[in-house]
Amino acid sequence: MREIRLNIVRNEDLSYSVFICSSEWGSVLNKVVSSIKPTSVAIVTDTVVSKLHLRSIVSYLPEGINYVTVEIPAGEKYKTRKMKEYIEDKMLEFGVDRKGLVIAFGGGVVGDIGGFVAATYMRGIPFIQVPTTLLSMIDSSIGGKVAVDTPYGKNMIGSFYQPKAVVINVDFLKTLPSEQIKNGLAEVIKHAIIADKNFFDFLLENRNDILELVNDKLEELIEVGCSIKKRVVESDEKESGLRKILNFGHTVGHAIESVSNYRILHGFAVSVGMVIEAQVSNKIGILPKEDLEKIKEILSLYGLPTSLRELKLKPRIISDMVRFMRSDKKSISGEIHMSLPKRIGEMIDSFSLPVEESLILSVFRDQFN
Ligand SMILES: NC(=O)c1ccc[n+]([C@@H]2O[C@H](COP(=O)([O-])OP(=O)(O)OC[C@H]3O[C@@H](n4cnc5c(N)ncnc54)[C@H](O)[C@@H]3O)[C@@H](O)[C@H]2O)c1
Ligand SMILES: [Zn+2]
Repeated sequence: MREIRLNIVRNEDLSYSVFICSSEWGSVLNKVVSSIKPTSVAIVTDTVVSKLHLRSIVSYLPEGINYVTVEIPAGEKYKTRKMKEYIEDKMLEFGVDRKGLVIAFGGGVVGDIGGFVAATYMRGIPFIQVPTTLLSMIDSSIGGKVAVDTPYGKNMIGSFYQPKAVVINVDFLKTLPSEQIKNGLAEVIKHAIIADKNFFDFLLENRNDILELVNDKLEELIEVGCSIKKRVVESDEKESGLRKILNFGHTVGHAIESVSNYRILHGFAVSVGMVIEAQVSNKIGILPKEDLEKIKEILSLYGLPTSLRELKLKPRIISDMVRFMRSDKKSISGEIHMSLPKRIGEMIDSFSLPVEESLILSVFRDQFN
């Protein structure tokens, strides 16, 4: 078992641990839940995870504890205010009180909505994250951002609310479809590019073991991936400066998701987004050509796309993408901002920069040549 401690500077009581486990996961979970001494437990999960792994989590709850399972349908389109209400009603009906505990058991969708339920249920009750996708293990379960989507945009209603612990079991990844593994790997590679050249080399060297889901390599990958997010989040809990570097690949990535009507998985959109933003960085003389090539190489090696053409998008979507980026929440007074890499493992000192539309357009056009 590996443990990472997240320190929340503004209030030490909010600090918590991320436990990265395999076979010992059940006993770690049991200890964590017992130490919170909840009056009851609400396991918030989705239908897919429930079918595969509910029995396992239930068998490790402290003996005799009262618990209720609240299942939502799987998928982003259920990360809604309506579903939040549904979960809350089920918990109220069961009688979960102010000393109750929410366990968010699933991917990022369940983590975000389960965490947000915990944040407002009876003005806030404890919750723990048990992430079951690679993306949620190295990204969404860490940092305390919880939210639901609205018809006006994703994650529009939410809060910052820290879990009491994150308890990861890498064995859950064995049932995750390979597309979802790649989806998470795009964010892992992003973490390496923005903050850790050695980690980038580790990912290059251990590609086969990682893709074959060898446990100790996965544990190491998750440990380093989480530590990177930890360092960023600790120094900037509420997203004023440094945390912007996590947006690398996302200015363009979000635009790709939007023009594809969310048909393209987030990680695949971010993969192409990273290539495009790295090309922008190279064009304005910041990122060396060889680093740009290495970024493309690592993404291809992991089976991730590196161009708009590969995503089967047509050149005519370029103007929609630019329009989207102009109105995105990362833009300032209509100016498109990007978090750009200086070299592999390091981002520009100002974290993000305004980028001229004419430059973005020329990089987009090159994508189709
Ligand atoms: N809070 C944050 O800081 C933050 C950061 C990044 C992303 N997010 C959010 O995370 C969400 C995406 O998370 P995600 O990619 O985990 O998606 P997800 O929760 O939708 O999971 C993807 C799919 O995998 C299934 N699944 C989960 N675990 C499984 C397992 N072990 N075996 C088989 N199938 C399994 C789910 O049922 C789902 O169908 C988005 O809503 C995004 O906004 C939040
Ligand atoms: Zn992302």
